[in-house]
Amino acid sequence: ITLAVLFGGRSGEHEISCQSAASIFVNLDRGRYDVLPVKIQPSGRWTVGQDEPALAGRGSEDALDWLRTTFPEDTTATPAASIAAALTAMSAADLVFPALHGPYGEDGTVQSLLSLAGLPYLGNGVLASALGMDKEFTKKVLTGAGLTVAPGAVLRPGDELSEADRERLGLPVFVKPARAGSSLGVSKVASWDELPAALATARLSDGKVLVEAAVPGREVDIGVLEVPGGGLRVSPPLEILTGEVFFDYQAKYADASTVLDVPASIDPAIEAAMGEQALRAFRALDCRGLLRVDFFVGEDGGLVVNEVNTFPGFTSHSQYPAMWDATGLSYPRLIDALVDAALW
Ligand code: DAL
Ligand code: MG
Repeated sequence: ITLAVLFGGRSGEHEISCQSAASIFVNLDRGRYDVLPVKIQPSGRWTVGQDEPALAGRGSEDALDWLRTTFPEDTTATPAASIAAALTAMSAADLVFPALHGPYGEDGTVQSLLSLAGLPYLGNGVLASALGMDKEFTKKVLTGAGLTVAPGAVLRPGDELSEADRERLGLPVFVKPARAGSSLGVSKVASWDELPAALATARLSDGKVLVEAAVPGREVDIGVLEVPGGGLRVSPPLEILTGEVFFDYQAKYADASTVLDVPASIDPAIEAAMGEQALRAFRALDCRGLLRVDFFVGEDGGLVVNEVNTFPGFTSHSQYPAMWDATGLSYPRLIDALVDAALW
């Protein structure tokens, strides 16, 4: 099977995508796959590279160095010309693996391009990716499916948070770009005089911003994985234990004291409810392949969906692969499962 791995991207999560791809490259079963690596540069140009099979089984740090240094950008080409050339090269592959996080990668834009070009790809399609990346619409769809989400207000460019919304949401609130990931641009606001700075920070990532009531509770994620034939598997719950104020960019990628506890100790009835809700979210968002659903679990067992990720962090120590590893589905076999579901 020739697998074109698409990584990098134009979003603020470019570096995280490179880290996900580094784990993919060292874990791919080279007996099963020929690999065509394609890097999306921060400029938006696509660079077709060559595989480095010697990376198989090495540390992901080695792969990360290679991904960072050996995909020279041809700055004389326009992004459009480079994309056309890359799509042409990728049309020789059996399947594309879009290992991209954030806007212009995980939001349906790349999926749309692949669909138009007739290139099969694994994971979520155009609609699910677009819905999952936009927290305003994720909330609308999940609410429509009967799930509970954090109360929030959407502020479009130029909007201010009304007095009525301040009273309704109370303090503290989280201020988030509507379309971003890895907690980029997210702040916790404990008093209203901090709000303008938090809005300005969020608006550096997206003109549309969400102000959400803080939800007390444990932060617990569940994964959904499609199996060939269209059936769905639910992972065990994974709890995030962090010493930071919240599971921010620092806690996600730099803080060694952050612990991912899987399987988390959760009351079996609550775990079953989380699994059922994660499946409902998968179907409501019209997902395919995979989804990570992030919950807050209240002291009373009440469940609130914080957000979803249509291509969750995919380093070998990220939540989604860790959940499956806890079931005995190792990282290389997880890749196989995604490929098999897509090619079925
Ligand atoms: N958006 C990051 C990669 C995550 O949620 O895992
Ligand atoms: Mg996310």
